[in-house]
Amino acid sequence: MTNYPVNTSLKPDVQAFFDEATNTISYIVKDPASNSCAIVDSVMDIDYAAGRITFEHADELIRQVKARGLTLEWIIETHVHADHLSAAPYIQERLGGKIGVGSKITVVQDVFGKVFNEGTEFQRDGSQFDALFEDGDRYRIGEMECFAMYTPGHTPACMVHVMGDAAFVGDTLFMPDGGSARCDFPGGSAETLYDSIMKVLALPDEMRLFMCHDYGPNGRDIQWETTVADEKAHNIHVGGGKTKEDFVKFRTERDAQLGMPRLIIPSLQVNMRAGEVPTDKDGNPMLKVPVNGL
Ligand SMILES: [Fe+2]
Repeated sequence: MTNYPVNTSLKPDVQAFFDEATNTISYIVKDPASNSCAIVDSVMDIDYAAGRITFEHADELIRQVKARGLTLEWIIETHVHADHLSAAPYIQERLGGKIGVGSKITVVQDVFGKVFNEGTEFQRDGSQFDALFEDGDRYRIGEMECFAMYTPGHTPACMVHVMGDAAFVGDTLFMPDGGSARCDFPGGSAETLYDSIMKVLALPDEMRLFMCHDYGPNGRDIQWETTVADEKAHNIHVGGGKTKEDFVKFRTERDAQLGMPRLIIPSLQVNMRAGEVPTDKDGNPMLKVPVNGL
């Protein structure tokens, strides 16, 4: 197993932004020693029925970064989301920063390049992003050293990003009463997700974990922050001594009953391009719907 450079004595300031339309949580993460920051998992608003894209959520992130006088160094995508669209390029244009994703984005681009019948102008080499992370890769936000952990299972390109004592888990885990994310997208695997979750739960007990999604199960208020210790003890899918076998059986049965996420078709086309909306041959923004293609 990779030897990760964990340092929980660094405690970044984490500001969360909940997007009600997609139940996504975006974050501004600030280096405690400087004014440098990162944004994790931004959201671009879409009214899919109308084909209308707007930027209320991203504008709020931008406003906050400016109001706090922060310098944006990184725009991190934990994975290619299937349920919301990334606003990474919109934010980058206004605040700078490098857009980073897991290096296995190329697998996702290959699979969905075929599904959406993309031409050769759609590069499957991850070149739409500024940085492609491998397992254990280190990078800095100001003076704070951060690293990426490769955590496939939900998708082949999922990474957990660890910044001091804060880990941004993407869709590897939900809050303890939410369990885990589905594994039935192309390239997903319940066995692999279980192993990835165990990597996350091998981080120090006190590590703060920040979710990408919360759906407020059983009517509770929306939450997004927990700890490794709490997940180990209470996660309904993997905590409290559940075995890999239990998890794989449960996850596979559950996934077989799930419908497609409402925004999967626009999300994949945009997110596999690092948040750029594809264009038609005349250069106009245009999305496709592959009939019976998913
Ligand atoms: Fe996801």
